[in-house]
Amino acid sequence: MMIRPARADDVQTVVSLLRRACATVAERFGLTQDNCPKSPAFYTEERVKADLDRGVQYYFLEEDDQVCGCVALEKARPDVGYLERLAVLPEHRSKGFGSTLVRHVLAQARSMGLERVGIAIIAEDEPLSEWYRRFGFVPTGTRKFDHLPFVVAFMEKELREPSGRDAPNRIVSAEEEP
Ligand SMILES: CC(C)(COP(=O)(O)OP(=O)(O)OC[C@H]1O[C@@H](n2cnc3c(N)ncnc32)[C@H](O)[C@@H]1OP(=O)(O)O)[C@@H](O)C(=O)NCCC(=O)NCCS
Repeated sequence: MMIRPARADDVQTVVSLLRRACATVAERFGLTQDNCPKSPAFYTEERVKADLDRGVQYYFLEEDDQVCGCVALEKARPDVGYLERLAVLPEHRSKGFGSTLVRHVLAQARSMGLERVGIAIIAEDEPLSEWYRRFGFVPTGTRKFDHLPFVVAFMEKELREPSGRDAPNRIVSAEEEP
């Protein structure tokens, strides 16, 4: 198993991976091309190219030369990154690939000197928010957007090391490796 950065000629692979992996989310939450064209379940080459143009870095997780999952890291502000487009193909789930991709992005974000990583998820997806909590992400709020048929929940992980034994985020840091 290995993780590699996606290249400019991987655009079609990103699209087919996102469409297939996120179809389960679309089905579960009733998302369609009409009510949620922005869902990764309906991603397009144009959108991946736009992501790459604004500096979003995609990573692939490969096993036996097959792409099984992806994730993206976007530097949103000088100190903040967004973890986006995390997706593992249904037949490859529950093997730790999703966790490996999350840890990879957190390590990349740290090496870029970022202080926090944020994510946005479907608020109703409680198993997913529970899962992110295991990496130290904490909920920071919810918001309803007109163009999305669900409430969005935001979570954030602080990357800085605790400054001492009694640092308030010590417990969060200890929980980082599930
Ligand atoms: C979320 C996702 C990337 C996890 O990938 P994975 O390779 O299965 O992750 P891991 O093997 O490291 O962890 C598996 C655990 O994920 C947890 N999990 C995460 N999201 C979940 C969800 N929506 N429903 C149920 N369990 C979920 C479960 O605890 C599961 O444990 P289990 O194997 O005992 O059932 C994958 O389910 C996926 O691609 N989902 C569709 C896309 C998506 O929701 N992406 C996140 C958008 S922010």
